[in-house]
Amino acid sequence: MNPKVSLTRHLVEKQRVDGHIPGQLRLLLEVVARACKGISHAVNKGALGGVLGSAGSENVQGEVQKKLDIIANEVLIEANEWGGHLAAMASEEMEAIHVVPNRYPKGEYLLLFDPLDGSSNIDVNVSIGTIFSVLKMPEDDRGVEEADFLQPGSHQVAAGYCVYGPQTTLVLTVGDGVDMFTLDREQGSFILTQEGLRIPEDTQEFAINMSNMRHWAPPVRRYIDECLAGQEGPRGKNFNMRWVASMVADVHRILMRGGIFMYPWDAREPGKPGKLRLMYEANPMSWLIEQAGGAATNGRQRILDVQPRQLHERVSVILGARNEVERVTRYHAEAA
Ligand code: AHG
Ligand code: MN
Ligand code: MN
Ligand code: MN
Repeated sequence: MNPKVSLTRHLVEKQRVDGHIPGQLRLLLEVVARACKGISHAVNKGALGGVLGSAGSENVQGEVQKKLDIIANEVLIEANEWGGHLAAMASEEMEAIHVVPNRYPKGEYLLLFDPLDGSSNIDVNVSIGTIFSVLKMPEDDRGVEEADFLQPGSHQVAAGYCVYGPQTTLVLTVGDGVDMFTLDREQGSFILTQEGLRIPEDTQEFAINMSNMRHWAPPVRRYIDECLAGQEGPRGKNFNMRWVASMVADVHRILMRGGIFMYPWDAREPGKPGKLRLMYEANPMSWLIEQAGGAATNGRQRILDVQPRQLHERVSVILGARNEVERVTRYHAEAA
């Protein structure tokens, strides 16, 4: 592979050759990548840039906002609102949608993001990231409103994330596979470093927050118990465990070397269907995983088929190696 293919060139060629990524979408993705570059710089400055610690406010999810949650949100909004590609944006850190102000032209796309994923890892210098999803405005729509965003994940036209780790890497799909770009800091551009990522169908590595074990539903408990039983158990093989506690980093590991990731429903808050957010965490990650040959369900249903009823809806998430995800989903069906 030519190591000097920039994100710009890659997208231009996709537009030209396949014709299936429209010019407006290409420009929108470039702006998102530019915003991620800005966030990456802020993350890298850390204490020197005064970006660590709490902002002292709470978001709509009831989480304490970190300074970087707010900075990243602002960077994404400022970068995207004037370009003319978008009608509106929605974010984990904003209760209501952000409609593109009237002083700017309006485009036909909707952008959703988790501006800073892995907030608990910011202050300890562990990988964090940005997750994004792009939808199209419904046709014949006169004014943009929250209901326009409530489309199932299968309607996404682009999805991706950027990890701010030892390297800054952008991972993207527009529906024809998953490609990875690494930020070249000297050049200031993202360079294509891996094309057509694939996840093996089987794995011996799982990612779940084990401290919630006593709250899990029986099918999840059964699956993890069998993994923990190792070679002597029903699976007949040993499993390894990893948990970064930044979904973006846990999913990135799965795209790089396989595995299964779960943040399942648990009984801590019985009324809530899960912890992770459907629209700006589960949907983009599920599409990336499917595009790489993996699977993603909420234990009962393909995540991309879930019809959202509200913007900040939560969902149980099981994604990664196809055979393992199918197994956990089967355990749910058997327990029903
Ligand atoms: P966010 O920082 O955007 O609020 O998301 C945090 C999420 C996700 O990244 C991660 O998988 C999970 O929360 C970690 O939760 P625990 O602290 O319960 O492990
Ligand atoms: Mn949060
Ligand atoms: Mn998140
Ligand atoms: Mn977040």
